[in-house]
Amino acid sequence: MIEVHPYFRQKALQRLNAQHGILTQAWSPIGGITFYRGNGRSTLEDPVLLDIAQTHGKSAAQVMLRWHLQEGRSVIPKSVKAERIAENFDVFDFTLTAEQVAMIDGLDTDKRSGPDPDSITLQTYNKTIPEA
Ligand SMILES: NC(=O)c1ccc[n+]([C@@H]2O[C@H](COP(=O)([O-])OP(=O)(O)OC[C@H]3O[C@@H](n4cnc5c(N)ncnc54)[C@H](OP(=O)(O)O)[C@@H]3O)[C@@H](O)[C@H]2O)c1
Repeated sequence: MIEVHPYFRQKALQRLNAQHGILTQAWSPIGGITFYRGNGRSTLEDPVLLDIAQTHGKSAAQVMLRWHLQEGRSVIPKSVKAERIAENFDVFDFTLTAEQVAMIDGLDTDKRSGPDPDSITLQTYNKTIPEA
């Protein structure tokens, strides 16, 4: 499970996963981390995603989920709201065109919004490994 949303695709890591028969599962699949962090960019307000969403009568969140599925990723979006959970399941009655998929791929900034796994240590999370 790795951070993947339109602003951070991790293309090389996904290729490596595929080479090893590992299914890539996206966390923050609709870019939750881009709006939790308040860094001025939100995938939900991205004009490209909103334009594509309008052509299908869908939301930007649904377009992102469909993009993941069409590119073969597993996705687990998070919502505490029943209507959004239903919305997030309602992505099987439309198909993004190849051009739309390429436009979403083109939003990649190659910059993660979440923590870098290489910087996470037991100290970061104030944890210790108990003696057996
Ligand atoms: N973030 C991490 O560091 C991390 C790491 C590993 C695993 N995960 C797991 O991956 C899953 C998803 O990650 P995530 O929560 O970071 O990001 P996410 O699913 O991309 O985004 C969740 C955010 O989007 C909102 N949302 C959900 N559906 C929406 C919709 N249709 N329209 C508008 N807003 C919508 C949610 O708000 P409401 O709840 O208010 O609807 C929440 O603020 C979670 O189960 C999480 O535990 C996360």
